[in-house]
Amino acid sequence: AGSSGERPGEGGVGFSKGGFILAAIGSSVGLGNMWKFPYITGAHGGAAFFLLFILCLVIVGLPILLAEMTIGRGGRGNASASLFNLTNKKHWKWFGLISIITAFLIMSYYSVVAGWTVHYMIQSFAGALSDSGTDYAAAFLGFAGGYMPVFWSAVIMTITGFVIARGVSSGIEKFNKILIPGFMIILLILMVRALTLPGAMEGVEFFLRPDFSKLSEESVLIALGHAFFSLSLGMGCMLTYGSYVQKSQSLGKAALAIGFGDLLYAFVAGLVIFPTVFAFGMEPASGVGLAFIALPAAFAQMPLGFLFGGLFFLLLAIAALTSAVSILEVPVAYAREQWNWSRKKTAIIMASLAFLLGVPSALSVEGTSGPLSSFYLFGKTIFDLFDFSTSYILMPIGGLIITLFTGYAWKRAGEEAGLTGGLYRAWMFLLRYVCPLLIILIFLHSIGLLDF
Ligand code: PHE
Repeated sequence: AGSSGERPGEGGVGFSKGGFILAAIGSSVGLGNMWKFPYITGAHGGAAFFLLFILCLVIVGLPILLAEMTIGRGGRGNASASLFNLTNKKHWKWFGLISIITAFLIMSYYSVVAGWTVHYMIQSFAGALSDSGTDYAAAFLGFAGGYMPVFWSAVIMTITGFVIARGVSSGIEKFNKILIPGFMIILLILMVRALTLPGAMEGVEFFLRPDFSKLSEESVLIALGHAFFSLSLGMGCMLTYGSYVQKSQSLGKAALAIGFGDLLYAFVAGLVIFPTVFAFGMEPASGVGLAFIALPAAFAQMPLGFLFGGLFFLLLAIAALTSAVSILEVPVAYAREQWNWSRKKTAIIMASLAFLLGVPSALSVEGTSGPLSSFYLFGKTIFDLFDFSTSYILMPIGGLIITLFTGYAWKRAGEEAGLTGGLYRAWMFLLRYVCPLLIILIFLHSIGLLDF
């Protein structure tokens, strides 16, 4: 056992093969698919953006996903130690540390949005969201501007910390094995309901008929950033999960399964959200509020809307929790190994710290009357700043570190990944030239040095 006791091959229990795929899909399918993807797709021309997103997933997402898992399995350590273990060079440790900090920052605001979903789920099942006369925009802003979200984010962090404390196999894997099948069933029920609504086809058309005139250079950067976020890349998550994978598992196949799973969920989520929104005459591009304003308003008009709305928010809560677990595991794996803490103690400390860091986010949602909502830093509220700086700056930097590490610094990545011949050369080509270039473009644009 010892500091790396849970890694297979060193006497511990890691993921089973299927368990790893489920857990990784659980990580990638999250609020990104259900909450971010629909509103950015709505704003950037529907299907045209979806095609662009697929392209980004294939060219940038999959190569980096495979690289992260390969580094984790080869390096047998957390997101910082693995880079060091494979090269014996100290500076890689520091580069790895960036991703651990990123994970921490994501965790803090992610748990806030996750908390909203739990509140909306309970409200919906309880019938409190069934009045079609309610102003759902005002209701959301009132709720998100109060103190309740702080409570719900504490609930989310408690559940997440509890799962992590139980370990990889009996905590993370088991949790995903129970929740992911339930998630699929609920998603299918909602899809059937959405597609059979009168007027649903208008939504399907919006989502599936490409309008390329709405695509801009900006869309490309957003699609790239979202590919990172959606596949949980650039913040050590897939690397840490990869370190618990058996040597006999094919990482290439795993990467394909995870990428496909993520895309499929984004697709089905679109088939739930757009038909529902269009059937009741709502605007698809209503920004962040799509999930918490337009959809509740739509569910309120639907027969049995309390049930379908409740199921929808339950779906979001599950998606958020399986992702939250993977995010918190990044700093937990680090602290355990770095300071030799027990898993339980580390889980409690990290969950508490992430919760505290999330409080300012919870109280600063733009447009609400939250106590910090009119405090702007770099032109953004604290909530938006956390989201923006992680999705468009820190995750791309983390991704850049991974591509450079795998493409240039670590010479045996192909062996560990099990890639040879043309596949290996294609992978290396993308990692060495294409991915770094695209990432640098996102980065320059994000910090305002590249304007279109
Ligand atoms: N991929 C998750 C989503 O789409 C979010 C996430 C980001 C999870 C980073 C883990 C790490 O919601």
